[in-house]
Amino acid sequence: MLEIRNLTKIYGLGMVEVRALDDVSFSVATGDMVCIMGKSGSGKSTLLRQLGLLDRPTSGEIILEGEAVAKMSDGARASLRLRYLGYVFQEYALLGELTAHENVYLPGMMLRGRGVDFRQRAKELLEIVGLGDRLRHYPKELSGGEQQRVAIARALINNPRVIFADEPCANLDTVSSKLVMETLVNLNQEMKATIVFVSHDPDDKKYGRGLIMLSDGKMVTEDGVV
Ligand SMILES: Nc1ncnc2c1ncn2[C@@H]1O[C@H](COP(=O)(O)OP(=O)(O)OP(=O)(O)O)[C@@H](O)[C@H]1O
Ligand SMILES: [Mg+2]
Repeated sequence: MLEIRNLTKIYGLGMVEVRALDDVSFSVATGDMVCIMGKSGSGKSTLLRQLGLLDRPTSGEIILEGEAVAKMSDGARASLRLRYLGYVFQEYALLGELTAHENVYLPGMMLRGRGVDFRQRAKELLEIVGLGDRLRHYPKELSGGEQQRVAIARALINNPRVIFADEPCANLDTVSSKLVMETLVNLNQEMKATIVFVSHDPDDKKYGRGLIMLSDGKMVTEDGVV
């Protein structure tokens, strides 16, 4: 489904170089739930952004369902992102002037001509994440955990092949974190969604069935060996 080959990302070429990703290779099979872990600054968000087509690697390649995507045009990448990928940000990134329901269905409206009733689908997705009774609430009227579950529902509106989640629980208390992680596990197990998530909490390893450990941009074993 997803193959990552010798991925390297260097920031600030010319001035102070930061090798945020250094020759990272691994693959993600359909239906996997992979956890990316590592200390702050180890390159987790950088890696997820490359995989989610939000940024381009300095070198290396990403193969998404057989297609090399690293060097594709911006337009082609945006189209792939819209049709096949879902992304959940640490800070939710909901639009404050829209209700939970609108936040979820509006991105779907960008996928014209598919004959899908996105309003209805958004309602069903919000029910799946346990927020069927919060459709008309605005983000500021929701708890952090509820906002993150709205963001997860939004990431699902295009029926993505892969869902990426960057520290989805970083701003949440333990109870909400558990709910958000269990929501992701359910999506993986029941809807067979392929999920790649980032966490810095070693406890979250249990939610993944694969583990990618990063240290200074390099893949290491769980004990930190390169
Ligand atoms: N836009 C950028 N320009 C220059 N350097 C950057 C940029 N983004 C990240 N970095 C550097 O790249 C390295 C990896 O950053 P990244 O955000 O991927 O870490 P992270 O593992 O997600 O950390 P955290 O757990 O704190 O979110 C860090 O040293 C960071 O300072
Ligand atoms: Mg990060």
